[in-house]
Amino acid sequence: VLTGGHERGHVNGNGSLTNGAAAQSDGGVEALLQTLVERASRPLEEAQAMPAEFFTNEALYELELERVFHKEWLCVGRQEEIKEPGSWLTANIAGEPVVVVRGDDGTIRALSRVCPHRFMDVLAEEKADRGKCEGFVCPYHSWAFDFEGKLSGAPLMSRNSLYEREKDSIHLPSFKVELWKGFIFVNLDKDAEPLAPRLADMDELIGQYRLEEWHLVDRVDWPESPSNWKLCMDNSRENYHSQGLHRKTVEFLWPSHMAGADTTESRYWYAQHMHCSPEAAIGEEDGHYLNPLVLPPLDGLSAFDRSQYLLAGVYPSMFVAAGPDLLFYATWRPTGPTSHKFELQVCVHESNLDRPDLDKIVAENHEWLVEIQSEDAWALTAVQEMLNSRKGALDGGPLSYLERPIWQFQRYMAEKLVGVEL
Ligand code: FES
Ligand SMILES: [Fe+2]
Repeated sequence: VLTGGHERGHVNGNGSLTNGAAAQSDGGVEALLQTLVERASRPLEEAQAMPAEFFTNEALYELELERVFHKEWLCVGRQEEIKEPGSWLTANIAGEPVVVVRGDDGTIRALSRVCPHRFMDVLAEEKADRGKCEGFVCPYHSWAFDFEGKLSGAPLMSRNSLYEREKDSIHLPSFKVELWKGFIFVNLDKDAEPLAPRLADMDELIGQYRLEEWHLVDRVDWPESPSNWKLCMDNSRENYHSQGLHRKTVEFLWPSHMAGADTTESRYWYAQHMHCSPEAAIGEEDGHYLNPLVLPPLDGLSAFDRSQYLLAGVYPSMFVAAGPDLLFYATWRPTGPTSHKFELQVCVHESNLDRPDLDKIVAENHEWLVEIQSEDAWALTAVQEMLNSRKGALDGGPLSYLERPIWQFQRYMAEKLVGVEL
């Protein structure tokens, strides 16, 4: 993919910063990929954010769809959301309309929602993105499909001999599904390698949270953001901005200077630790300041665990924030070159599900989440607007040690988009 001869004008031979205005004018995706590989190849001490064009270039977006979103495992929900046979949830994965459904045999499958007759969304009449049915009936001409996607009936078709010959092979295409710790992942690539082996070494870090025992209790469904998905990715992965953007909300609880920097080496996941401040702590144990709680904490966690929120993410579009009493997870997906959809979910451990005050606790927590997410959403929109500047400093600045996941993400993207291993 890489071609030589591009003059970007923003990195000289020793990697120092120069004016990046050239990044706007040459516009080519090849040059951008060259910059990506160059920055991703540097040691962390030389790490630098990508130029503005990384977040606006349309050709790059097409490449991301093809090489990242149509190839990677993407989280679409939790298994307990579709407990019964026939319960389903929908997801739009980089333009692909998908339904994930539990079959009569208990198996979870992912199917395309494009009707093989004349292309209606078989769930077009559904207003909600979760539901339950006896089978899928296309609202256009009533063709019916079972939970494996097979055609189970089509009215007034028997006079067509093509239909009669082919009907047993007419179906909604299916996609790969894998469950990981209660999370449902879908992959559009039929040849995708399984997910679990990639994440096996994550267990050392997150195993004690027994994520498969938690249940979804709340969703913060956020309106589509007019910003590139990678701005969301980068924002979700660093605690550096707590002392800036979240100075009135998060910083008091989990200050940036107490964050444990990412040290992971995996190509598939990343992690950081947010630790509670002495001022906000409800106590101290073995030198660790313990998080305030709204529910009894998960049993078996160490004092270290009870002092932290563990942020652990799976590339390219999901993170988990595991605390002693609440589990948050977020997903985001591009909807265009400069837009994405973000969702935030809240889970509680199964041992807390029957509490009579759970609804109230969840509602109060919801308000707090909306407040923080509003700050993040505001920032992403504000940053995207600045990317249209022609005269600003658009090259990207040096990264803090707390922004290590952004440098790691550059390495991931260089591998996915260009095929280099770093
Ligand atoms: S488009 Fe679905 S039945 Fe005709
Ligand atoms: Fe944030």
